[in-house]
Amino acid sequence: MLTNMDLPDDLAAEWFDAIPQRISSRRFDGVRPAPEVLDRLEWTSQRLSASADHARAVLVREAPPEVFTGLVGSYGKIEGAPALAAFIGPEDAGLEVGYVGEGVVLQATAAGLDSVWIAAAFDAQRAGRLADLRDGERVHAIAALGHAAKRIGSGERLMRAMVRARHRLPLDTIAPGHAGWPEWAREAASAVRLAPSGGNRQPWRLRIDGDALVITKAEKLYWTATLDFGIAVLHAELGAAHAGVTGRWVVGDGAEVARFVPGS
Ligand SMILES: Cc1cc2nc3c(=O)[nH]c(=O)nc-3n(C[C@H](O)[C@H](O)[C@H](O)COP(=O)(O)O)c2cc1C
Repeated sequence: MLTNMDLPDDLAAEWFDAIPQRISSRRFDGVRPAPEVLDRLEWTSQRLSASADHARAVLVREAPPEVFTGLVGSYGKIEGAPALAAFIGPEDAGLEVGYVGEGVVLQATAAGLDSVWIAAAFDAQRAGRLADLRDGERVHAIAALGHAAKRIGSGERLMRAMVRARHRLPLDTIAPGHAGWPEWAREAASAVRLAPSGGNRQPWRLRIDGDALVITKAEKLYWTATLDFGIAVLHAELGAAHAGVTGRWVVGDGAEVARFVPGS
């Protein structure tokens, strides 16, 4: 599937700065974000959706608690999130959905909101009704949005420990040989390294091929990998843009996810 992933130039710097600030929150204080913050998030969602080929992000300003189901019983349940964004597209649009969704998440972070991506523990049918699904679309994931509760709950502590939430693979593992890469490619790799991923599996590997930076797949893939790769594509692009390099993505197949060709 062709993807047209257009980074909004005017937002790239604030999204880049948001990358190290973002951590997942699973327990919120229930307080609704200021209307102007939600307005901006809605505007960002609409902009990203308009420039994507198939993926869409829809802001739901008042999230019914029933959307957050928990994994088993109430385990893994998101508490007190006042708002959410639904990340939508056809079945095969996961890469683009990941890219668009992470744009919304980073915009939320830049606006001072806390968030968590949720691909497992939500009611997809209910979320689909809230987001007015069109034919052939499904909700791939949602993000809970709001302000984190001051004290995290025992469920969240357990979940964070389980996925070793702060743990990131060394740069040498995800981008072997990075020390010899051009500055923009090293920035891109560092930005990918901090990206969120389902179960914190970090399924991305990077290599340089001629002038291009190529995102490839780790050997073992978790079921959220396609979304994770879309997230990685955005982070790589933001890292490169931070070093002053823009380019274009060519989506690959097999082990190759996508290649970033600078200056084109
Ligand atoms: C595509 C995707 C799906 C995710 N699904 C869930 C989920 O269903 N439940 C959950 O508690 N966390 C979920 N997460 C959050 C990850 O566990 C989290 O991003 C990862 O552990 C890294 O921690 P950090 O976000 O605090 O950096 C998901 C993240 C991504 C990117």
